[in-house]
Amino acid sequence: QTEIYGKGALMGILPGVTTDPRKLEEQAREFLGIRSFNYVAGGAGEKSTMDSNRQAFRQWKLIPRMMRNKPEQDVSVELFGQKYENPLIVAPVGVQGIFHEDKETGLAEVCGEVGVPYTMSTASTSSIEDVAAANKDGKRWYQLYWPRDNNVTLSILKRARENGFSVLVVTLDTWSLAWRPADLDNGYVPFIKGVGNEVGFTDPVFRAKFEKETGSKVEDDILGASRAWIGDIFAGAPHSWEDLEFLRKNWDGPLVLKGIQHVDDARLAVKAGCDGIVVSNHGGRQVDGAIGSLDVLPEIVDAVGDQLTVLFDSGIRTGSDVIKALCLGAKGVLVGRPVIYGLSIQGREGARQVLRGLLADLWQNMGLSGIRTVADCNRSQIRRVESVK
Ligand code: FNR
Repeated sequence: QTEIYGKGALMGILPGVTTDPRKLEEQAREFLGIRSFNYVAGGAGEKSTMDSNRQAFRQWKLIPRMMRNKPEQDVSVELFGQKYENPLIVAPVGVQGIFHEDKETGLAEVCGEVGVPYTMSTASTSSIEDVAAANKDGKRWYQLYWPRDNNVTLSILKRARENGFSVLVVTLDTWSLAWRPADLDNGYVPFIKGVGNEVGFTDPVFRAKFEKETGSKVEDDILGASRAWIGDIFAGAPHSWEDLEFLRKNWDGPLVLKGIQHVDDARLAVKAGCDGIVVSNHGGRQVDGAIGSLDVLPEIVDAVGDQLTVLFDSGIRTGSDVIKALCLGAKGVLVGRPVIYGLSIQGREGARQVLRGLLADLWQNMGLSGIRTVADCNRSQIRRVESVK
């Protein structure tokens, strides 16, 4: 905070990335082609779920307390028995190579430096091994788009484990890509042309299976291999709640389900022996017309918060948003688009500025709200108001 204000305001060095969350998306637009921009900024249908996500944050208001700034503030948290410096986690975002050549490896490196876990997407333009090398001393989580083929799944889990990914995040809400007009109108689906399939294309079991079935190597038939890979991870919904037993048996670290919105699904996650859930609507990119993610958080925390770790995402843009989610019972929050906007604007440096800015904003706003630790975040300091313009 001091460093950022000091450098920016006092020494006249302005950050390359805007610190105004309302301008970040527009700034990123200047650096991206229309297709990449629409891919990150877009959502399902008429984007009403994205609107609901932001509306929910606007309707929940913080109620600051005074003269509570001693002892020292501390934003660290404990998740799944591990200490983290702060409650932020970089959300899994696919195809980062379309936003900047620094791609996943660059962002993973920055996360290591800044002290925020990097969640690697299955739909990445970098391999599991390269991301791990870039994030050497950092904390890394792996997000699984759950393949139909158990042998491919086992191979990916093995690679993730061997490369130091500690938490497995299984995304349930994207077994098929949604109706996303901004992409459809531009004829844009990255995966079909081989972009974002690096995890599959570098997987020995997937490669051997593809070669056996088609007689070609992946490199000689990128289109065919892409079709086979996305057919394995996106097309159709072959998995059921009972199938989670397979993942539970084959992943000995924390197992987290991402995309939970209904309280009954949260209960099913407990029953399946999961360690955590991410209350998320995928940033409004899947179901159009869905409830704001923050609005379902309290009931889910009330139902299962004492049985597993409840994390949150969808719509976080400011430090204040982070505090609101924590006050409503989340133990940590994932951030998607803002980080990708930073990456798009200035690669590693841009992502670093967004992350450090968000952490500084969180620190400052928490202090000014009279909340010293994450454990002190509670519902006495937040209230929902009915209508907000
Ligand atoms: C995503 N998200 C996502 N989630 C996931 O589990 N696997 C993935 O590959 C992706 N890919 C992806 C691409 C892009 C461009 C975006 C914007 C998002 C969803 C992501 O993890 C997260 O749930 C949302 O981004 C959270 O909402 P905000 O922070 O973007 O509002």
